[in-house]
Amino acid sequence: MKVIDLRSDTVTKPTDEMRAAMAAADVGDDVYGEDPTINELEKESALMTGQEAALFVTSGTQGNVAALLTHCSRGDGAILGSDSHIYIYEGGGLSALGGILPLVADDPGGIIPPQKVLSWCRPSNVHFAPARLLCVENTHNRAGGTAVSPKDFKATVEAARSGGLSVHLDGARVFNASTAWGVDVKEFTGIVDSVQFCLSKGLGAPVGSMLCGGAEFISRARHWRKRLGGGLRQAGILAAAGLIALRKMTKRLAEDHENAARLSSALLAGGVGVETVDKPTNMVYVSLGADGPDANELSRRCAAGGVLFGAVSERRFRLVTHFGVAAVDVDRAAETIMEELKAS
Ligand SMILES: Cc1ncc(COP(=O)(O)O)c(C=O)c1O
Repeated sequence: MKVIDLRSDTVTKPTDEMRAAMAAADVGDDVYGEDPTINELEKESALMTGQEAALFVTSGTQGNVAALLTHCSRGDGAILGSDSHIYIYEGGGLSALGGILPLVADDPGGIIPPQKVLSWCRPSNVHFAPARLLCVENTHNRAGGTAVSPKDFKATVEAARSGGLSVHLDGARVFNASTAWGVDVKEFTGIVDSVQFCLSKGLGAPVGSMLCGGAEFISRARHWRKRLGGGLRQAGILAAAGLIALRKMTKRLAEDHENAARLSSALLAGGVGVETVDKPTNMVYVSLGADGPDANELSRRCAAGGVLFGAVSERRFRLVTHFGVAAVDVDRAAETIMEELKAS
């Protein structure tokens, strides 16, 4: 029986084409700037995102923290969504490593409204940590994987600019956002000062993220990457998979969104409490009613039937589609979940 793994799109394994490209990759010492495959990946990533330069980093978390450390100095404030990945799930790296104060604002629906951004742009005063940076996230993981619209995204970015802030986009899944809205990814990535996107999630590469921004910004971020221990040597082996992720896998994400929509409809038809979001992508969040098993218990029972997913809290769980999951798999997953809920 096939195990259907809906825990995350991070579980994707490199394709055969990626493995072949990795084996054949032309490599050099990337700390010396001599890895041709890394150089190619960095050049293409910058072009694709509408930025001047790019830097290969080991993970989304490393890309985000390197960006924050590059934008901000100790004692500066960075405005973060209260449900953002950087605030909740990245180990407080910005404070631990950079002495940066999170200025937290609610981000319902995946984006901090312009007015709330402006309210953190306070006049210069010795009592306040000055806000230097706004961080946005698209798609927004904890907001149900919703893709924030180009219009709402731009309004918040413009508010930050008018308040004198720089803007960093945690675009771990920004190609899912551009796919969902049917726009060029530059609509999001081209209007911010820096963006981090992951090669290793729905795009299927085994390792890595790209941090893109202005040339001067990226050369300072390169210094931070080295300090963070992220200066790699023959990293072209990883970049070879990254190039396939960028060139090919960005074009197939609509399939994952269709499968998530199929899963969502099947569960809804069975009376399961699927949370609705404005612009769904490859995630389905479910809220369980007061009766029946909690999310951990349900996840354990479904795992026994070969369907894996993770609890987000006691009564909420998340299902994520990716290229390792087909339409027949989501049908089986929906059936398994509904059967387990009925049995309890
Ligand atoms: C929105 C978002 N940003 C950043 C990250 C961090 O990426 P990584 O796991 O590569 O550090 C994740 C990981 O799931 C994410 O969902």
